[in-house]
Amino acid sequence: MSTPTKEAAEPASKIDMKESGGGGEVPSFEITLQVRRYDPEFSDEARWDEWKLTMYGTDRVLDALHKVKWNIDGSLTFRRSCAHGVCGSDAMRINGRNRLACKVLLKDLDTSKPIMVEPIKGLPVEKDLIVDMEPFFQSYREIMPFMVNNSPAPTAERLQSPEDRERFDDTTKCILCAACTSSCPVFWTDGQYFGPAAIVNAHRFIFDSRDDAGDMRLEVLNDKEGVWRCRTTFNCTDACPRGIEVTKAIQEVKRAVLSRSM
Ligand code: SF4
Ligand code: FES
Repeated sequence: MSTPTKEAAEPASKIDMKESGGGGEVPSFEITLQVRRYDPEFSDEARWDEWKLTMYGTDRVLDALHKVKWNIDGSLTFRRSCAHGVCGSDAMRINGRNRLACKVLLKDLDTSKPIMVEPIKGLPVEKDLIVDMEPFFQSYREIMPFMVNNSPAPTAERLQSPEDRERFDDTTKCILCAACTSSCPVFWTDGQYFGPAAIVNAHRFIFDSRDDAGDMRLEVLNDKEGVWRCRTTFNCTDACPRGIEVTKAIQEVKRAVLSRSM
């Protein structure tokens, strides 16, 4: 393990700055951040880098990564966009669990030990914390993640009862972060498995009373790499930052495959 330990001088975010009214009032503490680094331009081997940082009670893991990138080592590479749990771009393994870096407060972790950050598993690492999401989105595209309705378009909206809307409400919340799929042991060992996120997004349309392509999606997911690969380990449900009952959705799709094939 390579461990160049460095100290950050600057705050990670405006909330740390005294002029914004935050720095003087929010308690600070020291953390050790360890990040798994990989840069194929320089080495085929991954390594761990380590930094000691002063952070604040309002900071998230994403703020610690920003502090390193902006003030210590600009080559540290990770994705993020919204920084507020909406875009789904900063899923990573934090202390061995898939989480969104922008949703994990440092004060909620055990800061007496190093905080370990790695890329999500099961997808090719491109650089540091960035993985190639193409296999993930390929599965997503295959389940046709869009409404199919073959009847003539009405003059107003297509109406739906509150009960019918409720049927798929949970799975509308997906932000395609891949935390579920990349926490699944079947996905790690079988790169062909559609994975939980694709099934969740199929569920969103299969149980939508306005959609006409449920049978086509169920046929896709009845494939040997479809829903039957699921071993109900619940890793996906535990990993989902949106609180979606992922395993339950997969079970419902399994039942729909069986009921429609009988
Ligand atoms: S189901 Fe949850 S964990 Fe999976 S991609 Fe969607 S938001 Fe992320
Ligand atoms: S940066 Fe958008 S969800 Fe974390």
